[in-house]
Amino acid sequence: MVIPTRNEAGNVEELERQLDSALGGVDYEVVVVDDSNDDVTRPALRAAAVRNPRWRVIERGQRDQTGLASAVVAGIDAARGMAVCVMDGDLQHPPAIVPQLLATISAGADLAVASRYMRGGSRAGLDGTLRNLVSRSCTWLAQGVFPEARRTSDPLSGFFCCRRAAIKGLELKPRGFKILLELLVCAPRLRVANVPFVFAARHAGESKASTRQGILFLGHLASLFVYVPGGAGPLKFAMVTLAGLAVFASLLYGLVHAGVHPLLAWLTGTAASAACTLALLQLAPFRELGRHGEPDGKRLYYAAASVSAVTSFAVFAILLVPGKHHLFLGAAVGQACGLLLTLTVNQPPVWRRLARMLRLVPRLDIDALARRLGAQEGFWITDHGDLSDPRLNLIGGVVTREMVATASRHQQPALFVERKSARPQARLNIETSSAIVVPSVDESGEVSAVAVFVRTSRSPFESRHLDEAIKWMASHGRLSPVIAESQVVA
Ligand code: GDD
Ligand code: MN
Repeated sequence: MVIPTRNEAGNVEELERQLDSALGGVDYEVVVVDDSNDDVTRPALRAAAVRNPRWRVIERGQRDQTGLASAVVAGIDAARGMAVCVMDGDLQHPPAIVPQLLATISAGADLAVASRYMRGGSRAGLDGTLRNLVSRSCTWLAQGVFPEARRTSDPLSGFFCCRRAAIKGLELKPRGFKILLELLVCAPRLRVANVPFVFAARHAGESKASTRQGILFLGHLASLFVYVPGGAGPLKFAMVTLAGLAVFASLLYGLVHAGVHPLLAWLTGTAASAACTLALLQLAPFRELGRHGEPDGKRLYYAAASVSAVTSFAVFAILLVPGKHHLFLGAAVGQACGLLLTLTVNQPPVWRRLARMLRLVPRLDIDALARRLGAQEGFWITDHGDLSDPRLNLIGGVVTREMVATASRHQQPALFVERKSARPQARLNIETSSAIVVPSVDESGEVSAVAVFVRTSRSPFESRHLDEAIKWMASHGRLSPVIAESQVVA
């Protein structure tokens, strides 16, 4: 349990009591991250940590008191459990809900959000119509800008629980109050589930929410938009497209009125708008748009854009035949066709298939790699959460499910070699089992599958084989550069 507090003395004892009764059968710890500046909260928290061995308090000095969200990040860093639950320290988040959040994680979710905005939930304790209205519109704004935030009905909730391994390594830079939104946007692959809850009234003390928090929230939205390259994709796409269209339309209009031939005006407009789009795609916030996360996605994006430009030109040229009257209607229809084409190709399932058809993305042929490595067997394990793949039993005891799970969790390629005979005189003609395990990482940086290679022979795999497997995977864009540089030999 990670609990941020600031001047919550009156709530400490009741919180301790309610957590204790709610989490009867659970092995848990409480990490309080305290930024209090009154004289009573720190003594109250220290007393709790003394009488209750489950409680730990991190007292942040004045310089580190950078807000609720950073307190939560500090708490998550200090937490040790399999799951981390974040909740307020004023009992507006009822501890009785925590077991349901944990059950949701056990059932397979990476992130369980306690939601006020769904059937069974409410915000009874949110005081004032104004505060309600602000809360609701901030939620809509966040969800409007970031489709990532639509995975839950309450992206601004401060009450949630996540599987710790699923968020390991995430670099969070939250401002203000909204740590959950940060998680949703920075980890778009997390499986999210909602649990309804009633936002209660404060037990004691007063709220620290203020107009300043509202301004920080807008700043946080802007920072996520600018600095998370893959975030808010549709809005970024719309912005780049609209900018290109504006350049195109104004040039077409201006040139035609100046007496330039429509076809020439069209070509000039298209060239200028393509230049504008290309320039925008060089800017950090928009870079991911043309990239699709894969090294070869970019080539396809530009090919698709060129095809759509030619198509829209053809449509325009044909519609132009009846005469000048149809000029702008023709231009609109032509551009719409081009846009529609780009939009279709931009769907990940479509471009992935196209890229494969056009052989832009070389397929990682696991059998070919197995042959190169001299492995008897090479295969993918895709469902490494389950690890019930029967082939894992065939590896002669060198690789266990746990090893695959560990390699996958740490995103760490590894080489396993069976221990040589411990007898004083080891036979040289005895076969040794060895295995190479390489997690494959998809565009969001998460492990999507684990490649396993097995060799049982008198000369087992050596670290140069591991190097080769890593290089091969990296050249197919299946490893992040960080991973390609690190390896484990066991
Ligand atoms: N460490 C630390 N530092 N804790 C803080 C700080 C801070 O600067 N500011 C607030 N807290 C703690 C409070 O002590 C409390 O335990 C919790 O964070 C929530 O703060 P409140 O002041 O009670 O905020 P709220 O109830 O108005 O806002 C809550 O509801 C929102 C939904 O309407 C929070 O849970 C928000 O995260 C949530 O979005
Ligand atoms: Mn509160």
